[in-house]
Amino acid sequence: MQIVKTIKEIRNEIKRAKSSGKSIGYVPTMGFLHDGHISLIKRAHKENDFVVVSIFVNPTQFGPSEDYESYPRDLNRDANLAEKAGADIIFAPSVKEMYPDGFSTYVKVYGNISKKLCGQSREGHFKGVTTVVSKLFNIVTPDRAYFGQKDAQQLAIIKKMVKELNYDIEIVPCSIVREKNGLAMSSRNTYLNTEERKAALILSKSLFKAKEMIENGENNPEKVRNFIIENIKTEKLTEIDYVEIVNADTLDNIDKIKGKVLIALAVKIGQARLIDNIQMEV
Ligand code: PAJ
Repeated sequence: MQIVKTIKEIRNEIKRAKSSGKSIGYVPTMGFLHDGHISLIKRAHKENDFVVVSIFVNPTQFGPSEDYESYPRDLNRDANLAEKAGADIIFAPSVKEMYPDGFSTYVKVYGNISKKLCGQSREGHFKGVTTVVSKLFNIVTPDRAYFGQKDAQQLAIIKKMVKELNYDIEIVPCSIVREKNGLAMSSRNTYLNTEERKAALILSKSLFKAKEMIENGENNPEKVRNFIIENIKTEKLTEIDYVEIVNADTLDNIDKIKGKVLIALAVKIGQARLIDNIQMEV
């Protein structure tokens, strides 16, 4: 499996694959791959003839006080894992390759969908995501691109961008991969020490209990939200950023739990800001 670092090289390889009639599946990542990423690559391998995985820690989606510098990186380890999962090529560009000096073009999805949840505490984050994903889509020109439901807001925003900017790309949502104990896999879990890792279990536990509560007939979003908040607060190491129950497609607030709903949360534990969510149809 090849690792290429320039836009020219990846374009040539994709041209070659397309000219032999191959369909292109694409998995964009920031690397430090775990089983969540691997599940996306495996699915892309199953559904396409040629699989591109990009590894790029995108500086424009990190705020000035966020973890861009300390974000974990290990290209050799990632390349091995990606190859085993079925990747045909890795695109790992430098920051200069993606953002040459003087770069000043951005893609932004406006409105509530970008402003709330993570948009509120991570100013400019989604503008960085949509800009880089848009560039990557133009470079890779895939038939299908795979995104995890772990980042539910990112997925909703990218779906909207693809629709409104007329990208001819099928966005394939993939389920959240969790550790056996329920913790949603994330490259940022590496920031947690043993005690914090234990405390982090309260996130998925609260979401699962909330789901049960809804399945047992509770349809008041405020009641479920408060239940989750109180539950998380029982763990001293947690600092809640948000807990929200919203419409799963638009991310608008709801008065009643009905239809496709998303229960999403962000919680700081030590150095890590963890997100998790659960989607359900009521
Ligand atoms: P990253 O956090 O590396 O995630 C890459 C993809 O893996 C995303 O689609 C994410 O939702 C998915 N993913 C992460 N953890 C997962 C899990 N536990 N289960 C299932 N899928 C999971 O998301 C990004 O990178 C960046 O914002 C990117 C889209 C690459 C743009 O820079």
